[in-house]
Amino acid sequence: MDISEFEELRTEILSCQKCGLAVTRNHVVFGEGNPKAEILIIGEGPGAEEDKTGRPFVGRSGKLLDKILDACGFTRKEHVFIANIVKCRPPNNRPPMPEERAACIPYLDKQIEMIDPKIIILLGATALSMVDTKSKITKVRGNWIIWSNRLVMPTFHPSALLRNPNLKKDSWEDFKKVVYKYRELVNPKHFSANIPL
Ligand code: URA
Ligand code: SF4
Repeated sequence: MDISEFEELRTEILSCQKCGLAVTRNHVVFGEGNPKAEILIIGEGPGAEEDKTGRPFVGRSGKLLDKILDACGFTRKEHVFIANIVKCRPPNNRPPMPEERAACIPYLDKQIEMIDPKIIILLGATALSMVDTKSKITKVRGNWIIWSNRLVMPTFHPSALLRNPNLKKDSWEDFKKVVYKYRELVNPKHFSANIPL
């Protein structure tokens, strides 16, 4: 991937006014991580902390996501890129509306094309709706989906795990599948303290 193209896309998105969320946002959240990562993680949209800082998943959900990634042996710097369905915060953390998603998803499509990840992790129902509008996250989570020639793992959003800690066990099974797949496709020696080689 051409890094200058990726940075051009960032510049374009940072000044975007394509939907109503532009009016109330403080920062556009482009996403962060390794633009050459083989794993792309997709959330819903920025919350209060993300809107304040311009960084994805830095609030309570983000802290939990970082713990999960750490348990997998993944870091933001090396193994993943983290993005969202919409890049500006929906007021009061409501789910993004259809017209907001439609306006913003072309940016995510460009990010996917440029990053070209082998594995995509979808966090929660809003992210799932990008590839499957009919199924429920509770039904399809933990099962690989093939979408545009990529492997996609839908799983719970960390905010769901915070609301209902009973879901953490299932969530960990889903992330273990990602680690096994990463070893299969990218690095057979990938180290995770919690998942023996
Ligand atoms: N929740 C999301 O879906 N995305 C973020 O970036 C933060 C919280
Ligand atoms: Fe543009 Fe997306 Fe922000 Fe809407 S949410 S203003 S489409 S960057």
